[in-house]
Amino acid sequence: MNSSTDILIIGGGIIGFSLAVELKLRGAAVTILTGDFKQPAARAAAGMLAPQAERIPPSPMLDLCLQSRGLYPGWVEQLEEITGLKTGYWRSGILAPVCENEYYEQPESSSVNSQWLDGDAIRQHQIGLGEEVIGGWWYPDDAQVDNRALFRTLQTASKKLGIEVIQDSAIEIIRQGDRVFGVETTAEKLQADRYVLATGAWSEKLLNIPVFPRKGQMLSVCVPEDYPVTQPLQMVLFGTRIYIVPRQDGRVIIGATSENVGFTEGNTPTGMQSLLAGAIELYPELKNYPIREFWWGFRPATTDELPILGASVWENLMLATGHYRNGILLAPVTAKLLADLILEKKLDLLLAAFHYSRFAIHTDL
Ligand code: GLY
Repeated sequence: MNSSTDILIIGGGIIGFSLAVELKLRGAAVTILTGDFKQPAARAAAGMLAPQAERIPPSPMLDLCLQSRGLYPGWVEQLEEITGLKTGYWRSGILAPVCENEYYEQPESSSVNSQWLDGDAIRQHQIGLGEEVIGGWWYPDDAQVDNRALFRTLQTASKKLGIEVIQDSAIEIIRQGDRVFGVETTAEKLQADRYVLATGAWSEKLLNIPVFPRKGQMLSVCVPEDYPVTQPLQMVLFGTRIYIVPRQDGRVIIGATSENVGFTEGNTPTGMQSLLAGAIELYPELKNYPIREFWWGFRPATTDELPILGASVWENLMLATGHYRNGILLAPVTAKLLADLILEKKLDLLLAAFHYSRFAIHTDL
């Protein structure tokens, strides 16, 4: 490893790369240690930037998510400038349709922009909705990004900025006294002044930290080639059981199951059936769209469904993990607040709610 590295980021997912780029832009020497690029949740996600559609109640978590959603336009613009690549950021808004027999009360976060649309209004908003839809909530400020394009952009930005990326698996975090001394990988021992753990669903393999995988199965279809428009869906549809995320190039992402099955890989007939049935109910047109791809990923869940951000008990180890359903959304704010903390010792008050110490039983975090 480059001996001038100040900071070693363990984990090459969306959080690891976002933080590495932010640290490097602020002048730090940074290295990323990453296992397999195919594994991170960044590839598996749908890319919704949806604090409102996800119905996050008023809380520090909502504040964090809204702050990050607000950072997105400037953040992706900067990444696109550095790389010349597109991230597919689209302020499409998110529509949360409600079907007959579904209960969907007024969103708690009423201080933020939202509007109830009745059965007629919702159909004017988006044509082609299923007969069962009786109305829905419209969140104009929620948005989306093409998470795979964003991830490629971050990888390219890292390369252009001269961030060293080591492709190897971390086996052990070696501790000495109250500090991290190094990281043992399958090939070598890496050392740095400071370390950040950003290994998502795999965090518990390295540290006694309550992060566990919550599997999500997904699939994509695409608008048929002979269709009169490239993309008839002009907004995300966020149903109570599934969501449908249109991309401007004609792809349509359908997600996602939520399963406690550890790291069990693969798509299942039940998973695909429930996603397709829910999607066709909401937007029947989809039944004729050719299927493109099936995949799955592992969300990094925590017991209270909140991320773990900031200091650890180890003096020179920071934590940036457990983003659960909101890793893509929270990437820019995580990068900003962690870079403030690491480089300027500036502790944003918001971080207190995400400190590891809330998990009292895990004393050696
Ligand atoms: N953010 C959506 C999901 O995790 O399924």
